[in-house]
Formats: sequence, structure tokens, C-alpha cells
Amino acid sequence: MQILDGKLLSKNNKEELAIEVKHLKNEGKRAPHLAAILVGHDGASETYVNHKVKMCNDVGFGSTLLRLDENISEEFLLEQVERLNNDIDIDGFIVQLPLPAHINERKVTLAIDPKKDVDGFHPVNMGRMLLGLSAYLPATPYGILQLLEAYEVKTSGKHCVIVGRSNIVGKPISVLMARNHALGNCTVTQCHSKTIDLEEKLKSADIVIAAIGQPEMIKADMIKEGAVVIDVGITRVEDSSKKNGYRIAGDVHYESVAPKCSYITPVPGGVGPMTVISLMKNTIKAYKKQVYK
Ligand code: GUN
Repeated sequence: MQILDGKLLSKNNKEELAIEVKHLKNEGKRAPHLAAILVGHDGASETYVNHKVKMCNDVGFGSTLLRLDENISEEFLLEQVERLNNDIDIDGFIVQLPLPAHINERKVTLAIDPKKDVDGFHPVNMGRMLLGLSAYLPATPYGILQLLEAYEVKTSGKHCVIVGRSNIVGKPISVLMARNHALGNCTVTQCHSKTIDLEEKLKSADIVIAAIGQPEMIKADMIKEGAVVIDVGITRVEDSSKKNGYRIAGDVHYESVAPKCSYITPVPGGVGPMTVISLMKNTIKAYKKQVYK
């Protein structure tokens, strides 16, 4: 069993990105610049955004964090999006999700200029990805692809079972794993809450991608010997033995599943760290105007 070590890979990628930014600056160019809008004080969102800002600092990117009160109007948020769309010093930006209930997420996502949509959530980027055109790939699916590539995991002709159909992970990764590409060419089965006999589907999988947010629901008896298991879940579960009172659990019961796998991602330290790297890579693409030519 080999661990797909996202922590190590992200560290290596971070160093490479830092060198690239240093070269740009040595050539007298400005650094790439990522902005993030955070509305309200959701604990998990604060953590994610802080990781993104810290990564910008670590690799030498410029960063702007726009913190907005949770009671702001949708109109005000749309004005901020428009301002970032038109700011020539900002290469890409994200609006951290979820947004407060009174703000329409879809409306906000649609307002982002697709050229600056480094999250890859805008329908133009989703559509381009679906058609195999160059696009900003959403961070989590992009992170999964980078892990598979770095560890030379063979995907062609394999049966890939994806559990989850979210817009951010399940839907895009199903498209990417099925596309005609060295990091694809899988036969994909997409499972969700209404799937009948999930266990049977999982048992026939060469590659499992779990993105359902149900802590440790995938157990060893559901997994084929030698399978590749990618765990996207990150849920806080109560744990009185921890100082902060919780631990982070994936969707996969790691202890029992890992011995059966050829490759597995740990949680934390698997897919998570690669998502922030993906965002940085998308920002550098936006800076170089590599995506829309
Ligand atoms: N909320 C959870 N994941 C993400 C992400 O990748 N981007 C944004 N903008 N919000 C999120």
C-alpha cells in the first residue's frame, strides 16, 4: 500500500511555485495576485481562506482578503465582484462558499468574470471543461488529478466509482475521469444518495473517489483488494481526547481500508493540501493568460 501524500506533494509544488514567482520578480514583473471575498464568520470558511492567504504569502503572490459582514446585501456583494472583475492588478479571485442564506450563490458565481474565476465554478469554465477546452479546473478535482499524476497511478480502462454529485467535486471529477486523456479514460459510475446497492458498486471499483461528507462510512468490506482510494471528505467529529474537542475524519474508514489498497489518500494530508496548490496554479495561469487564448 502506498500513501498518496498530498502534504509532501504540496510542499514540493509550493517550492516550485515560489521559485517561479522569484524568477518573475527578478525579470522586473509584478507577482501574480489572488483576491478572496469572505462573507460572515463561518469557522470552516475562515480556516480555508486563511490557508489560501498564507499560501499566497509563502509562494510570493500578492493577496487581498475582503472580509464582509454577514448582513451585507446581495447587491453590495455583486458590486464588490464587479470591482474585482475590473481591477487590472488582480489576476483571479474567489468568493468563499457557502454564502449566507439571503444571498443567491448562483447569481454571485455568474457575476464573476470567467477569466478571473480561478475556482472554476462559473458555467463557462464548467462548460469548457466538459467540452475538453482549456479551462480553470475546480480546485479539488484538479488536486486529485495532480496526485494521480505524481504517483503515476494508471487510470485508463479502469472502473472509477465516484460517490457524490456536488457541483464542486462529484460532477466535475466524473467528467475528468471519463475524458479521453492520459489522466482519464476511466469507465465512470457516479453514485449518490439514491443509488441502490452502493456496496456492490464500490466492490467492483478499481478507483474509488469519495466526496459525500459522511465520516468513515466506506468500510473495508466495500472495497476491492488493490483498489485506489481517494478520500475527499473532511468532517469535524467530536473527540474528547483532542485539545480542541474534535478530529478531522474522511469519508473512508482509513484504518481498515488502507491495508487493502494499492494507493490511498490520508485525511488530513491527502487531497486537502492539493486543493490550495490548484488554486495557486490557476492564479498563475490567469496571470499568464494561459487559459483563454
Ligand atoms: N467552499 C468549499 N470549498 C470551496 C472552494 O474550493 N472554493 C470556494 N470559493 N468556496 C469553497
